[in-house]
Amino acid sequence: MIKKCIFPVAGYGTRFLPATKSMPKEMLPIVNKPLVQYGVEEAMAAGLTEIGFVTGRGKRAIDDHFDISYELEHQIEGTGKEKSLEGIREIIDECTFTHIRQREMRGLGDAILTGEAIVGDQPFGVILSDDLCIEQEEPVMAQMVRLYNQFRCSIVAIEEVPSDQTEKYGIIQGESIKDGLIRVTDMVEKPKPSEAPSNLAIIGRYILTPDIFDYLRDTPPGKGGELQITDALRKQAKEGCVMAYKFRGKRFDCGSVDGFVAATAYCYEHLYQEPE
Ligand code: G1P
Repeated sequence: MIKKCIFPVAGYGTRFLPATKSMPKEMLPIVNKPLVQYGVEEAMAAGLTEIGFVTGRGKRAIDDHFDISYELEHQIEGTGKEKSLEGIREIIDECTFTHIRQREMRGLGDAILTGEAIVGDQPFGVILSDDLCIEQEEPVMAQMVRLYNQFRCSIVAIEEVPSDQTEKYGIIQGESIKDGLIRVTDMVEKPKPSEAPSNLAIIGRYILTPDIFDYLRDTPPGKGGELQITDALRKQAKEGCVMAYKFRGKRFDCGSVDGFVAATAYCYEHLYQEPE
């Protein structure tokens, strides 16, 4: 059973300055809920209740968000406003939270390797909360856990992107196993469109088997001088097995202003319920 989920949340969020000058980008709200809460809800819906944040300086607001706020809760006790905190209270009751600092920003691979101290020797999920995934019946991480239970290997979520967008993503190449499921034969981090092996982009959902840590340790810095999870997964795919999964659901790239605004409009229309 997979219980742990790592959230790399050390990044600066420079695309949202000045909003992110003293506030973590993961705390930016989509309507009335911080981005990171959507991610934690998705993990919880998949049974991943041991949450590990790989944090950095200036991220304390995330720790506080997933903790009780006595003064505030006392203040609104017995009023209709209590309802607004039901979701976050449920998360706090059901999940545990561990925090570890990534000392330097050396890439997603480095963030995940930092999470080893939390994960230990077991398979785990990774959610990049910038990628907001909405699927109400079976959230994306739950879909992936179901696949993991069948295949017992690392799984990356993928989506078709326009060919001129490959430079923003890890791109996979592989053999189709069945509808929506591909066995990865190769992958490359942020290739130019002319060098991309396909238009199948990895989005911010992973299930990783713990041998990924050894692959990460053996991986030299890659694109941008950073330790890339894509490079470690590439080796794992060649020596073992990695599956790519075309998930069901909608994905918004909330690391970009356009995606953030689109997510806000969508969630306001489809998910938001005005407090009574
Ligand atoms: C990271 C990964 C990339 C992946 C992307 C998904 O890139 O390195 O392979 O496609 O997340 O969001 P980042 O967006 O952090 O630059």
